[in-house]
Amino acid sequence: MTDQDDPKGMRKGLTSYGDAGFSLFLRKAFIKGAGYTDHALDRPVIGIVNTGSAYNPCHGNAPQLIEAVKRGVLMAGGLPMDFPTISVHESFSSPTSMYLRNLMSMDTEEAILAQPMDAVVMIGGCDKTVPAQLMGAASANVPAIELVTGSMLTSSHRGERVGACTDCRRYWGKYRAEEIDDEEIVDVNNRLVGSVGTCSVMGTASTMACITEALGMMVPGGASAPAVTADRVRVAEVTGTTAVQLARSKLTPDRIMTAKAFENALRVLLSIGGSTNGIIHLTAIAGRMGFEVDLARVDALSRETPVLVDLKPSGQHYMEDFHKAGGMQALLRELRPLLHLDALTVTGRTLGEELDAAPAAFAQDVIRPFSQPIYPQGGIAVLKGNLAPGGAIIKQSAAAPALMEHEGRAVVFENAEDLAQRVDDPDLDVQPEDILVLKMIGPKGAPGMPEAGYMPIPRKLAKAGIKDMVRISDGRMSGTAAGTIVLHVTPESAVGGPLAYVRTGDRIRLSVANRELALLVDDAELARRAAEQPQETPSAPRGYRKLFLQSVTQADQGVDFDFLRAAEIRGKIPGSR
Ligand code: FES
Ligand code: MG
Repeated sequence: MTDQDDPKGMRKGLTSYGDAGFSLFLRKAFIKGAGYTDHALDRPVIGIVNTGSAYNPCHGNAPQLIEAVKRGVLMAGGLPMDFPTISVHESFSSPTSMYLRNLMSMDTEEAILAQPMDAVVMIGGCDKTVPAQLMGAASANVPAIELVTGSMLTSSHRGERVGACTDCRRYWGKYRAEEIDDEEIVDVNNRLVGSVGTCSVMGTASTMACITEALGMMVPGGASAPAVTADRVRVAEVTGTTAVQLARSKLTPDRIMTAKAFENALRVLLSIGGSTNGIIHLTAIAGRMGFEVDLARVDALSRETPVLVDLKPSGQHYMEDFHKAGGMQALLRELRPLLHLDALTVTGRTLGEELDAAPAAFAQDVIRPFSQPIYPQGGIAVLKGNLAPGGAIIKQSAAAPALMEHEGRAVVFENAEDLAQRVDDPDLDVQPEDILVLKMIGPKGAPGMPEAGYMPIPRKLAKAGIKDMVRISDGRMSGTAAGTIVLHVTPESAVGGPLAYVRTGDRIRLSVANRELALLVDDAELARRAAEQPQETPSAPRGYRKLFLQSVTQADQGVDFDFLRAAEIRGKIPGSR
């Protein structure tokens, strides 16, 4: 390696000692100390983000994937260099995984920029990791490619097929309703997670995997292969070889994640009955590229994009079935008339070219033809009204049709602790037709916008056989959950949104047909309540929590930190039509 012959980024812009030659000299000395020769350094350097962690079973196959990516990189003539970032698992992240998503995105961005690499493979999977990595890659704008760990296998409980975590919630609901006993719930617990990998339904992890392939940031066919299959390992190898091409062509994320690509991703989100969290994450990723997501236009898109994928929680199958049915390529073929086929992907070819080269269609019952949707509109509807001036959303494909036009009395819980203390109280004044309202679980409220929007049915109603009620909050819910649940009410209660001033006994009207969420209390009364008891916005004295509370944006801006969003707005997505 000479000064004229820079080993592809091993020294780019890195003059930390004020003397570029000396900086390079030191880097070479240290990397040779690790046993590398000049010959090894004289080729594209491919970073591999290792998010393996004992706290992240969803990434339990990371070591095997890294080995396969490295093989692909070496076969294509690159030098693989794996490095760690933080890893975030849904169940092991307190107060919430969402609280840590932006931290992980900053870690990813800075690690990519700080260390010499010509392209990067990001291994993610569990819900927040893929959005964090795409946010980081968007801001770093170094050639990047996403590799997901893949879904876990399903298992079986007493002859019934089960998988995390729609079935986790269903069985827990049965246990609360005393339909199953202590012994059975322990048995179920042993069966729900059949292997390492991400949740086996169309939860947030699967949603983000599908969206990433639609965005063009993943190799074709990379979204659906389960974690423990040969297919997944081969996807990893192909990802490695593709990363070397990407390094050579210098195809950066800003040329892939365009307005058209985001619109394709939104179409896919709607057509898979995807997680409501997908909207927030896409908004955050787009925000890094300078695009604002226009919720009114998303709703218009939703009205003409049918749900085609029959997976839990909107339908009945699991991710491994989606994979066997042809995965994303089969879905994209059905959606073809709605897509921007000229959007570029990490392969250097367009989405249309990749679809032309995709395996032929065959008969299957998981991905419906466009003419026979599982639900006629997109999975997500956007609501507006005086209770949510900045919008709210509902996953209509997983809601009870009978409750989607509903007026009822609000039963209000002031925060998550209040809910936990009172929801199972036999004396709680609540009827099946009431509307449960939960405050203080928005971005600043909890903080970190927990998935507590899936409020439990009060035990006395659950025992009486009530399975669903209208529930409204400024929080999120797991992509694996179902019910008539209004989420992401914006502005949130913690910043003094109208939700803060709802009281038990107020009437609320939900009309999904009219996209309306109305608090039937007049403005003067709401203003009087706000003056009487103004909402105090939470703050913290130090640390990441202080940064978070000072900087986090509302759901309609992706819950990203304001200082991480692009400095300039370049346009709105989806585009006007
Ligand atoms: Fe990791 Fe569901 S908990 S994907
Ligand atoms: Mg989840």
